[in-house]
Amino acid sequence: MPNLFSPLFSADTVVVESAVHLVDDQLMPEELGCIRQAVERRRAQFGTGRLCARRALALLGLPVVPITVGPGGAPLWPAGAVGSITHTSTYCAVAVKPTPPWRSVGLDAEDLRPIDPSIVPSVLTDSERLWLEDLPSDARDVHALLVFSAKEAYYKLQYPLTGRFLDFHDVEIEVDQKGDAFRVRTRADVPAVLASIEGRFAFAEGKILCGIELL
Ligand SMILES: CC(C)(COP(=O)(O)OP(=O)(O)OC[C@H]1O[C@@H](n2cnc3c(N)ncnc32)[C@H](O)[C@@H]1OP(=O)(O)O)[C@@H](O)C(=O)NCCC(=O)NCCS
Repeated sequence: MPNLFSPLFSADTVVVESAVHLVDDQLMPEELGCIRQAVERRRAQFGTGRLCARRALALLGLPVVPITVGPGGAPLWPAGAVGSITHTSTYCAVAVKPTPPWRSVGLDAEDLRPIDPSIVPSVLTDSERLWLEDLPSDARDVHALLVFSAKEAYYKLQYPLTGRFLDFHDVEIEVDQKGDAFRVRTRADVPAVLASIEGRFAFAEGKILCGIELL
């Protein structure tokens, strides 16, 4: 499988990607305990994420331990690593970085599809919607989805540091359309380092990919 996410992160990031498949028999007991009651599709996504995480930790030179589920659903990484997991129905990616120096990382993948118009008002702020209306009509769907994905990636980066739930309207995304970058600004009461951060995005293999990292 090609490595889609690596170009979005700095060089010391370990990215492992995989097709989603059922791997219950390869999970550690503590991990299985987190999803025993889940349906097969969810077990496949969770399990593939854990196997990718295990490979990533080994590549980082860290001992491989179970990655259980912490508060708010965030994966619990061992000392020496920060990481993030994303999956679509068929594809899974994990990014892991050494800490120190890195404080956090977030990534998100979404299948390219029109975003459900009924959720647009709850995902996009007024100024994001104005920006969207200025785009050619055939570019709006994909950019609405890009804003959604960038917010999800930022959410995963900030949560382990703040323990805070954020509403979509707490966060504003500015897309650099000529390049491959976006800026996240938040109105929420978060530490100053999280108030304005740049992330990167790409379109590849029918997906939108967003990555963001914090030193
Ligand atoms: C958690 C959330 C961001 C996941 O995004 P998603 O696009 O639905 O799904 P993805 O497959 O990309 O990501 C799921 C993974 O995110 C990770 N995750 C879940 N909650 C998390 C949290 N609080 N912090 C960090 N990572 C989290 C998990 O690893 C999860 O996979 P796993 O359960 O198999 O381990 C989303 O479901 C959610 O709960 N959002 C609510 C908050 C929000 O979006 N606010 C607006 C954005 S600012």
